[in-house]
Amino acid sequence: MKYSVVYFSRTGNSRRIAKKIAQNLSTAATEVTDNMNWNGAFGLLKALHYSLKNKDVSINIHGDIDADEYIVVSPMWCGKITPAIRNLLQTFPKNKVHLVISSGSGIYKDRADYKSVVDIIEKEKNEDKIIEAFTRSLSL
Ligand SMILES: Cc1cc2nc3c(=O)[nH]c(=O)nc-3n(C[C@H](O)[C@H](O)[C@H](O)COP(=O)(O)O)c2cc1C
Repeated sequence: MKYSVVYFSRTGNSRRIAKKIAQNLSTAATEVTDNMNWNGAFGLLKALHYSLKNKDVSINIHGDIDADEYIVVSPMWCGKITPAIRNLLQTFPKNKVHLVISSGSGIYKDRADYKSVVDIIEKEKNEDKIIEAFTRSLSL
């Protein structure tokens, strides 16, 4: 099975998680960026606004992500996936997506139809254990 690891990250947690997963699968993690500046206090307010209003962003995918199944890593913003990842997922059938959500404390609720959904919750401090179990669950 060929997997592609794709991520968006504002402050680095999802990037770190995606890179660890990719390393376990002996592949690379591909970054998705958008056309927004989410930095600083104003960026944070903008992120809240875009999440709450489900506002769209355009995206760039920084690599070839063609695969049998996709491992998509997203921060949780206001209980949701980020605008960039929402855009990305419009092009994939959900049943080929393993969604990995990086959050401060919340569990992602909209889990229907994905191949699998994994929560990595900062405050639980068990990132490596969850990543290990997740990558072991994949058919290589
Ligand atoms: C705009 C915004 C909204 C967030 N909303 C939530 C939330 O609803 N629940 C939660 O547990 N964490 C929330 N967080 C925390 C992030 O999900 C968490 O810090 C994540 O690991 C950040 O990933 P990153 O470093 O890849 O950007 C939010 C962060 C931001 C910036």
